[in-house]
Amino acid sequence: MKVRVLLPAIGVLSCCIYFQASPSRAETPLSFALTGRVSSAEEGPMEGVLISAKKAGSTITVTVVSDEQGRYRFPSPKLPPGQYALRIRAVGYDLVSPSSIEVGAGNTIADLRLRKTADPAAQLSNADWFRSLPGTEQQKASIKNCTHCHTLERVMRSHANADALVKVVERMSTYPQLAFPLMPQKLVAARVGGGEDPIEQRLAGWRRQAQYLSTVNLSSIDNWNYSFKTHPRPRGRATQGHLHRMRSARADPAAARRDRGFGGHGLVCKFRRADSR
Ligand code: HEC
Repeated sequence: MKVRVLLPAIGVLSCCIYFQASPSRAETPLSFALTGRVSSAEEGPMEGVLISAKKAGSTITVTVVSDEQGRYRFPSPKLPPGQYALRIRAVGYDLVSPSSIEVGAGNTIADLRLRKTADPAAQLSNADWFRSLPGTEQQKASIKNCTHCHTLERVMRSHANADALVKVVERMSTYPQLAFPLMPQKLVAARVGGGEDPIEQRLAGWRRQAQYLSTVNLSSIDNWNYSFKTHPRPRGRATQGHLHRMRSARADPAAARRDRGFGGHGLVCKFRRADSR
């Protein structure tokens, strides 16, 4: 299957995902610009680690995933020679070294060492938070929309108690969908369509949310007293392919965000899975 959404305008934040046919099936074998192994003291060779390379001065980031033996490889056409910053994503781990690499004309080799992170909360996705949070399905569903403009991590790091949270949640309702912490914007008029619930009803809803959130944020404890349940890293065939991401070239994050055109995530995706024709 191949899906492509074209950029509607120059400078639009965009992202293309390619899942390429495995080299054995490809017509011409791929050569690789950068390869190596990923490992940690805890796990040895690590599968499913996302490794991202971004060339100095470029807006493009290419990401590959390590296989069962911890091996990763960037296809040559995706990584022209130059200086690259390296980053990893493997929940619970940080990259120790190297954080940058000079990619030459041939095959550059770099083995990556990871270590357990000191701050696992900073690595949870919204889905990981929802999975980890205590509370009823109804309570969790009531805070689903809190992820529209920022991550749940921001919410869970709050020290506000229930009373203070009612005010915070009320303030959130004054922002339009495109507001975000780097650029808070206020609604200039009530949202059109459908009308709003009576204020008493909204207040009761905010109180319920605030009450629940005060039991899972840091208002009464120094550290979260529930364990983090993270989603597993990719495995097997899910590690084959690479991700190609292009950011808006605009320096102003608010302007870049307004560039976002589709899907709410500013992503343009192009897929080719290993099992597709
Ligand atoms: C429409 C966009 C939007 C939504 C939806 C939203 N927020 Fe926010 N949030 C913001 C913005 C903008 C800021 C930064 C400015 C501020 O603090 O008012 C922020 C900041 C915060 C902060 C940090 C500020 C503080 O005083 O502690 C918390 C906590 C927070 N939000 C909680 C929530 C909760 C809980 C929800 C869901 C009920 C939510 N947010 C939904 C836009 C939003």
